[in-house]
Amino acid sequence: MDKLIIKGGVSLNGEIRIAGAKNSALPILAASLLTRDTVQIRNLPHLYDITTMLELLGCMGVEPIVDEKLSVEINSGTINSFSAPYELVKTMRASILVLGPLLACYGQAEVALPGGCAIGSRPVNLHISALESMGASIRVEDGYIKATVDGRLKGSHIFMDLVTVTGTENVMMAATLADGRTVIENAAREPEVVDLANCLIEMGARIEGQGTDTVIIDGVPELHGCSYSVMPDRIETGTYLIAAAATRGRVRVKDTRPDILDAVLAKLEQAGADIKVGKDWIELDMHGRRPRSVSLRTAPYPAFPTDMQAQFTALNAIAEGTGSITETVFENRFMHVHEMNRMGAAIRVEGNTVIVDGVEMLKGAPVMATDLRASASLIIAGLVSDNETSVDRIYHIDRGYECIEEKLQLLGAKIRRVPS
Ligand code: EPZ
Repeated sequence: MDKLIIKGGVSLNGEIRIAGAKNSALPILAASLLTRDTVQIRNLPHLYDITTMLELLGCMGVEPIVDEKLSVEINSGTINSFSAPYELVKTMRASILVLGPLLACYGQAEVALPGGCAIGSRPVNLHISALESMGASIRVEDGYIKATVDGRLKGSHIFMDLVTVTGTENVMMAATLADGRTVIENAAREPEVVDLANCLIEMGARIEGQGTDTVIIDGVPELHGCSYSVMPDRIETGTYLIAAAATRGRVRVKDTRPDILDAVLAKLEQAGADIKVGKDWIELDMHGRRPRSVSLRTAPYPAFPTDMQAQFTALNAIAEGTGSITETVFENRFMHVHEMNRMGAAIRVEGNTVIVDGVEMLKGAPVMATDLRASASLIIAGLVSDNETSVDRIYHIDRGYECIEEKLQLLGAKIRRVPS
């Protein structure tokens, strides 16, 4: 397994391009199962999770054609299996996203039950109960979700007990081919849900209300192919902006969308960043100043995203003052805190809140990544340390950040990948 070696003390400066959104690309790839026509998907990020999803489609007999820009053409007419094996699901929980499409299109699906992960137990009970309300018979045995439906799924009025992003996406995809109208109340409003809905509409689906907490889908007999470009990754965007702020630098991120990062940009301005935005770019300038601590609370979109909580904890770790960060989405998303404290941070965990007393600089140390976004936060911590930091187990980071060391090197960071 590789590790990243970071020499801290450099202010990031320069311009980078943002890749397509992982959490939009994954459901859109699964949506290709809803038609026997060819679906072309563009602006896919070069990530392990994307490769895993393509592998998963491949093991069902659906062979994506990948071009040199990693655009893919998928025609699921060759499908010969409706099973998502544990070997793949255990590496990527988003494999659960094939459940809705397989049920809707083929009336059957066997998907390994995704286990918990570092950040929480992450049950999928809401996915299952919603699909059962649409007429699916689902039993969980031998570690697999085994689902069937006689004929078509039926439209249903569903109230989600919790806001669930992939739960909303699974049901929305299943509902596109159901008989009648499906209403999803307390639906997730994340931009990635909207991106999936827009792709499904391009395929002939009838969807309204995407981006609000009530999504209405009127089922159609079949969907057709389309060509769709995945939206930019707002979490990658925010991660580089936070890294720029922590290192007192000046960075422009392009090929992104400022309109879906309001909560994050507001917090960065509170931290003292000077932010300018254009149609598809954001520029952050700290004018060499140390950031000020900010307090925040994660929650479903449009509130501050949980996927940027760890990164902001790293910013607060070296900011002026004391900031509190409350995590309301996942039950165990503070694994990065113990590693940062080993680097000299002064962070106290009080239930689902961390209190961060900013220090001037951290101390480089060997640290270990536990999940995707925690890995990113440890890299940021390494960038603001007075010595060398080695971040181990970075396969986590390669799942969600395209060419992270190259992009950071473009911004002046002293970072290199070595086999561990
Ligand atoms: C999606 O995960 C994202 N992944 C996550 O990004 C993100 O952190 C999360 O949404 C929240 O925004 C993808 O889109 C592939 P949830 P998801 O269902 O859908 C509970 C990253 O770093 N819940 O919205 O799995 C659950 O335990 C990843 O890119 C149930 O109880 O998250 C959690 O507490 C990490 N039962 C809360 O809801 C269910 O059936 C929100 O989870 C489903 C969810």
